[in-house]
Formats: sequence, C-alpha cells, structure tokens
Amino acid sequence: MFYQVSLDASKVINVTPRYARLRAGVNGSVNGSAKAKGQIIGWENIELISDRSLDIMLNEFKQLKEEFPDRILIASIMEEYNKAAWEELIDRVEQTGVDALEINFSCPHGMPERKMGAAVGQDCALLEEVCGWVNAKATVPVWAKMTPNITDITQPARVALRSGCEGIAAINTIMSVMGINLDTLRPEPCVEGYSTPGGYSSKAVHPIALAKVMSIAKMMKSEFGDKDFSLSGIGGVETGSDAAEFILLGANTVQVCTGVMMHGYGLVKQLCAELKDFMKAHNFSSVEDFRGVSLQYFTTHMDLVRRQQEAIQQRKAVRKGLQSDKDWTGDGFIKETESMVSN
Ligand SMILES: Cc1cc2nc3c(=O)[nH]c(=O)nc-3n(C[C@H](O)[C@H](O)[C@H](O)COP(=O)(O)O)c2cc1C
Repeated sequence: MFYQVSLDASKVINVTPRYARLRAGVNGSVNGSAKAKGQIIGWENIELISDRSLDIMLNEFKQLKEEFPDRILIASIMEEYNKAAWEELIDRVEQTGVDALEINFSCPHGMPERKMGAAVGQDCALLEEVCGWVNAKATVPVWAKMTPNITDITQPARVALRSGCEGIAAINTIMSVMGINLDTLRPEPCVEGYSTPGGYSSKAVHPIALAKVMSIAKMMKSEFGDKDFSLSGIGGVETGSDAAEFILLGANTVQVCTGVMMHGYGLVKQLCAELKDFMKAHNFSSVEDFRGVSLQYFTTHMDLVRRQQEAIQQRKAVRKGLQSDKDWTGDGFIKETESMVSN
C-alpha cells in the first residue's frame, strides 16, 4: 500500500508535533515525561495525507512496478468532492501500472473539513455518489476504506459494494483526544498551545477493529456470499497472531501502519514468520484454509443464554460416579469409590 495521494499536494499543510502516545499503566496526561515508561499501546495522529507532490509519487509508483513487477501495488487515493478531479486522479494513478486503488473514505481529522475522508464515509448518499464516479472510471479493482466513527460500519460497506467496489478495507483511525497535560492544562498533541481531535491507532484499537471486521465479514457473507469481494483487516496489527485473528474473521489481507512506524519494516518479516508458525501448528497450508473459520462462533447474547442453559441441563443429566453396581471393576475400585465421594 502506498500512501496517500491527491491531485494538489500544496493544499496539504501538516503541523508538528502531530502524534501523541498512550502508554500502558500511565495516565495520558504525563505521556512523554520521564515517568512514562510503559509500553506504547495507543497512538493519536493529526497528520494529513501526504504533502509530497503527485508527480513525485507517481514516479515512485512506476519505479516500484518496474522493480517488482510480480508484486501487488495498491495506491491509496483521495480527492475533493469533484467528479472531474477524481477522474483525473484515477487516470494518472492507473497509468503508473498500479494493481488496485484503495479509496480513503475514512480519515477522521483535517480532511473532513474539505469534505474528504470520513465526511464521505459517514454519509451513505455522498458515498454512493463518489463510489459511482470512482468505479465508472477505474479499470483496476477498488477497495473502499471505511471509518469506524459511525454507528453501524456495515451500512457504508454495503453501499460501497453495491456501488461497484471490489473490496472493503477497515478500519481507519478512531476519533480521539489523547489526553490533557495536567501542568499546562493543554490537550495533546499540542501545537502552539492548541489541539484538534485526531485518529487513534495501534494495539489499543485492535479489539475494536476485530469487531468491525467481523461485522463487515458477516454482512458480506450473508448478502454478497456468491461474489468474489475482498476484505482487508487493519488496526493494531503488530504480530502474526494479530494478523491471524483478522484472517480468522474473514479478512483476505491484513495491513500494518503504526506498528511499522514504531518498530520499523523488520516487524513485517517477523509477522510473516509468526503467521507461518501459526499455520504450521494447525496444519493450514494456505490462508483460505482458515479464513473466516471463527465467524461461525459469533451469535447473539440470547443464543449464548440458551446454549448455556442446555449445557447445564446436560451436565445435570449425567449421574455422578458409577451408573450401576455392575460397573465396579474390582481393580479400579479406589478410583471408582473416589468418583462418588462428595467432599
Ligand atoms: C500517522 C498516520 C497516518 C495515516 N495516514 C493515513 C492516510 O493517509 N490514509 C489512510 O487511509 N489511512 C491513514 N492512516 C490510518 C492507517 O492506515 C490505519 O487505518 C490505522 O492507523 C489503523 O491501523 P494501525 O493500528 O496498524 O495503525 C494513518 C495512520 C497513522 C498512524
């Protein structure tokens, strides 16, 4: 995945600092101080899309495809609410030979002020319209990247698939305020004394991302089961186990962002090795062998209650100890006696 291009990079003005961290066992307000030693579990960013010019990015796409023609390159793109601008961007990006496009309908901060990112992903009518433009123009597969900052993430996912997208990616970051500095009373990340809510990522969002991916996967299975759509799981992935969980919930691919920012590219090699170990332990020879396997174990709370009541009834029905005196074996009588003692 290659971040994140739009036509006019001069409109993108980033601030610094633009990240704030949450550490385990430490109040967010003292992050960054000498006291903050715990493991980093959460990350907030108020970064915009790339401020590098489109021409530079397009050259890099081309170069990458030339150097690695057998690898998949997916360009992440976004534009303003303007059909002609989307068409021009898609055309120019596709000319570099990318294999697919991921559309950012999900950035929660900064970009929505320009009617981009989550401003589209949170409005199903707008989303349908923009997906229509994108899919009418694109000749390569299109993934719609979804925001979790919405009550029911399956609604925009359904709209994107019905509007011609071939895949869903989820999740983007969760709207957050990382903390307040209790000395200065100013929020983090603090830019000239002020802040703006930003996107939360890293380990802490993994369970939330799993729930969102699970519900999208269930919806895709029940409503689009016969179609060859794909799902990309994102959020708090650092290890092979994190990746395996997304695949077990139906993801075809998995993405890593903050993990690589914190630990470097080496994390990906380690992740792949751990994922292979997991597959070996279960005798899985391909991702398809276990993709979506855990989805069947989700049900309603009412059904959990019913299952538990049934299990209790069954356990009660089994009589403790020997069922009848003819079951005494003689040699095993000590164990058999024990099985009928109550204290
Ligand atoms: C610093 C930073 C910049 C990001 N920029 C983009 C972006 O330009 N486009 C996008 O779709 N998602 C962007 N994201 C969101 C990530 O791709 C990902 O969806 C999210 O961070 C959750 O995954 P993670 O926990 O592995 O980081 C960004 C995340 C971070 C932390």
